Amino acid sequence: MHIAYFSPTGGTRKAAEIIGKEIDPDDTMIDITPYPQNESRYALAPDDTLLVAVPVYGGRVPPTAIERLKCITGRQTPAIPVVVYGNRDYDDALLELKTELESNGFQVIAGVACIAEHSIMRIYAHGRPDLEDEAALKQFALRIKTKLEKAKAGELFPEISVKGNPIYKVFHGAFLKPRTGEKCNSCGTCALQCPVHAIPEENPRITLTDKCISCMRCIAVCPQKAREIPPADLEQSTQVFKERCSARKEPELFI
Ligand SMILES: Cc1cc2nc3c(=O)[nH]c(=O)nc-3n(C[C@H](O)[C@H](O)[C@H](O)COP(=O)(O)O)c2cc1C
Ligand code: SF4
Ligand code: SF4
Repeated sequence: MHIAYFSPTGGTRKAAEIIGKEIDPDDTMIDITPYPQNESRYALAPDDTLLVAVPVYGGRVPPTAIERLKCITGRQTPAIPVVVYGNRDYDDALLELKTELESNGFQVIAGVACIAEHSIMRIYAHGRPDLEDEAALKQFALRIKTKLEKAKAGELFPEISVKGNPIYKVFHGAFLKPRTGEKCNSCGTCALQCPVHAIPEENPRITLTDKCISCMRCIAVCPQKAREIPPADLEQSTQVFKERCSARKEPELFI
């Protein structure tokens, strides 16, 4: 099986690995997070399987992930979309990812929505996926594996339906953009790791805010802990989302 993931701060990758390893311990990982260095293309055969995991941004799939997924095509290849969200909601993201995979030649046999630490407001879903999530996701994986085996043996299944409104929510982008502080020693790590080249290599102290997708990867990878969202802005957002993000949500399987 192939596992493709867009995971700026690692939560999505964690969830994908828990599910993927349980279905097939010998899977191949395809990381579509970094800025593409070459034109790698993956044409999967009908007897391959693809699991795709993306984070939820504003109830949608990040446009950068949609764009990068176009390099992976199938021929009625079974696929499992996984959306990972920060304990608010995933709204239309699973439906969007399923629809995208179908238009790229895949046949969606199951879908998963699960929770990981909120990459901006990290007090929400802090430390998730946790042991409870892991147990649930492994159960899901076993059910997916059984269906996959039956599908590969020729059994036919009706199309699955997942949560989501076909008139997708509009996401205008997050307004929170990281800034660089005094501790920066211009090592360049953040510039190399930014998925959309929003930090110039020659001057990593600045952020090109029109390019930045607010993914928080630069904050996560900075060895000096020199990048941050201005604390007052972060606190304000955290308060605004308190009611919607506090009560624990649980992983869901559509099969
Ligand atoms: C720009 C942005 C928008 C987000 N929007 C949502 C959202 O609509 N609902 C939600 O529950 N979490 C939201 N989150 C949280 C992420 O979906 C969640 O933390 C995810 O696990 C991040 O994946 P990563 O760790 O692989 O980067 C958002 C995060 C970012 C950076
Ligand atoms: S990773 Fe941190 S220390 Fe290195 S250039 Fe970026 S902000 Fe500066
Ligand atoms: S500059 Fe913006 S897009 Fe680039 S890693 Fe930082 S938050 Fe993500």
